[in-house]
Amino acid sequence: MARNKIALIGAGMIGGTLAHLAASKEMGDVVLFDIAEGMPAGKALDLAQAAPVDGFDSNLKGTGDYADIAGADVIIVTAGVPRKPGMSRDDLLGINLKVMKAVGDGIKEHAPDAFVICITNPLDAMVWALREFSGLPHNKVVGMAGVLDSARFRHFLAEEFNVSVEDVTAFVLGGHGDTMVPVPAYSTIAGIPIPDLIKMGWTTQENIDAIVKRTRGGGGEIVALLGNGSAYYAPATSAIMMAESYLKDKRRVLPAAAHLTGQYGVDDLYVGVPVIIGKDGVEKVIEIELSDEAQGNFNVSVDAVKELLEACKGLDSSLA
Ligand code: APR
Repeated sequence: MARNKIALIGAGMIGGTLAHLAASKEMGDVVLFDIAEGMPAGKALDLAQAAPVDGFDSNLKGTGDYADIAGADVIIVTAGVPRKPGMSRDDLLGINLKVMKAVGDGIKEHAPDAFVICITNPLDAMVWALREFSGLPHNKVVGMAGVLDSARFRHFLAEEFNVSVEDVTAFVLGGHGDTMVPVPAYSTIAGIPIPDLIKMGWTTQENIDAIVKRTRGGGGEIVALLGNGSAYYAPATSAIMMAESYLKDKRRVLPAAAHLTGQYGVDDLYVGVPVIIGKDGVEKVIEIELSDEAQGNFNVSVDAVKELLEACKGLDSSLA
């Protein structure tokens, strides 16, 4: 059986980490694409030289030619620029929107059957634009944010309760960023919901509120600590989990930015919700009952995403 092919568009910090993970897990052959000359080939060669030591068989190729992504089963997109000091949100949006146009055109021409996972920020707007530019079916284009946001929530909860991260499940909805909606009522320690744990005296509402706040600002906390760049280990690990669910038809239930067609009262928008990812991509959007408070917070998050889409439409008339 032929190996799977994973194409990574953007070979920067997350792209390089994705390549390392995908190759060392033998998920398939890996193509690293970037506009930076030489860099993707350098990373591919470096990783290929780790293979004999670690014992993995994956072909790695660095390229600046979209033809090399032909036949990719999975494409993970991190191409773009991060927000730098002095750059407005609209500046960032304008630059990364153009990147999504180039990437979408490349995918449309060379790998229209791929399952595409977008990581580039601002996530919910970029994944929507990438879908529009690529023309792929909505179920084959998804945004990675929820797995990362819920992983951050789980890490903080495991610390708070002093239990294994494996026994913590967390539920996060909404857009990626300050407006994301962690939902403690659907977050558990070994199946016990957080509100019950508060009643049991394991923690306090104040501590949970602080954890929710820290989760919302999780990306910014790392940016401030690194001083240069943003998180890459956890984002890459999260996207790999989504890719594996697709390639192995695992049907994992994961929070992801998915295209909504009326669920949660939202139409034709990408926003973070629980979905099932299997061999057909996003196979189901799971619609749960929300408390008035959670629905209210979700609506605020959706409005923030809508505003970004309007800005995208203003910047590129083909999206209007
Ligand atoms: N086509 C392909 N690659 C591009 C393009 C383009 N049009 N424009 C920029 N790139 C490449 C850059 O050359 C760089 O190597 O995208 C890469 C981005 O890598 P980093 O700057 O290291 O960023 P990274 O930390 O990997 O994050 C990527 O994910 O979390 C988001 O906000 C983050 O949008 C950012 C993205």
